[in-house]
Amino acid sequence: MKIKGFLKDVTGASRVTKARLSAFEAASPVPDRTDPIADAAREWHPGRLDLVVTAVTPTGKTAKTLRLERADGKKLPIFYAGQYLVLDFALDGAVVSRPYSISSAPFEARLQEHPFAEITVRRPKSDGFIADFVNDCVKVGDAFTGLVGCGQFFYEPLRDAKQVVALAGGVGITPFAAMAKEIANGTLDMDLTILYGSVSSDDIVLKEALDAVSCERVRVVHVLSGDEPDWQGERGFLTAELIKKYSAPDTTYFICGPQAMYTFLREELKKLEVPARRVRFEVFGQAKDIAAFEGFPQEVKDKTFSITVRRGIREDVIPAKATESIVTALERAGIRIETGCRSGECGFCRTKVIAGSVFVCPENDGRRAADKDFGYVHACAAYPTSDLTIRIPIL
Ligand code: FES
Repeated sequence: MKIKGFLKDVTGASRVTKARLSAFEAASPVPDRTDPIADAAREWHPGRLDLVVTAVTPTGKTAKTLRLERADGKKLPIFYAGQYLVLDFALDGAVVSRPYSISSAPFEARLQEHPFAEITVRRPKSDGFIADFVNDCVKVGDAFTGLVGCGQFFYEPLRDAKQVVALAGGVGITPFAAMAKEIANGTLDMDLTILYGSVSSDDIVLKEALDAVSCERVRVVHVLSGDEPDWQGERGFLTAELIKKYSAPDTTYFICGPQAMYTFLREELKKLEVPARRVRFEVFGQAKDIAAFEGFPQEVKDKTFSITVRRGIREDVIPAKATESIVTALERAGIRIETGCRSGECGFCRTKVIAGSVFVCPENDGRRAADKDFGYVHACAAYPTSDLTIRIPIL
């Protein structure tokens, strides 16, 4: 059998070998310890950073925007418009973390002078311990640790249509403010129409910032559901009819707002027969009323269980209400657990359940199939339905 080009291949290989040998001979005897790839990876994914608050600005009547810069003055890691950061709060001897969508644009985090990221935090109508703290107590000069650039809620041109309609409610406008700024800066190639639902004009967050970046590719439509006689814009809710009015034939929908809005919008988009691949939901945090979810065992809803928490050789026993996530029970007991999204998505709070049973919020069940099989839960989305024994990493 004759193999075509065989000799040429063999001699070709020997030429490469010779070239390599002469390169070795010419090389410096001092080992090259530089590792540009690892350096780039460290710069882009530096882990937790020391951050300082450099400005606190009221945003509308109900929210504040915090500007954060790195304590060492360096640029922040690269992130996508729509992603969030995680801030750690040391309160009453315990460290708790909260995710916040970044409301400033990625290009602002890479400025030569004073690169920054901003978050906008609204005072909730009830039970907003951390949000109240941010609104009442945080001031310029305060220091935090934080993780910048997390989450999957960003525009991906290979997956999403160029025409994007954002459906926002309340402080859910923040990721879209980041996208709008990035588009206006010419560093994000998409067309964005934001349908922003608020009860009253006083509730509108980041209005000036959105007005400032409105342009041919960024359109902001305010929709008021409250009774405001002088209001000139759209009224009512983000109904199928209204969404259709502002949609192109091929549109991707991005949704961010309170939990109740998601349920409503799912039905409205169903009426428009929007395929699932064209709808992106931002995670909405821990479920407000877990007992209202289908499948939650109602007989345990008023019960308090005990959780045996194993960290290495240490074991603590803490109380846990059936309607509070395992993360909440741990933080209440002063036990640190890593968290990011607090919505079951990121897996930071992955926890092994050794004994006992839990209810996992079906909306927030972001576990891998193997984790389900081997008894792992995401503690921010899991609720005890019996006494438990769990294992978490030592922090
Ligand atoms: S904090 Fe992200 S999955 Fe629990």
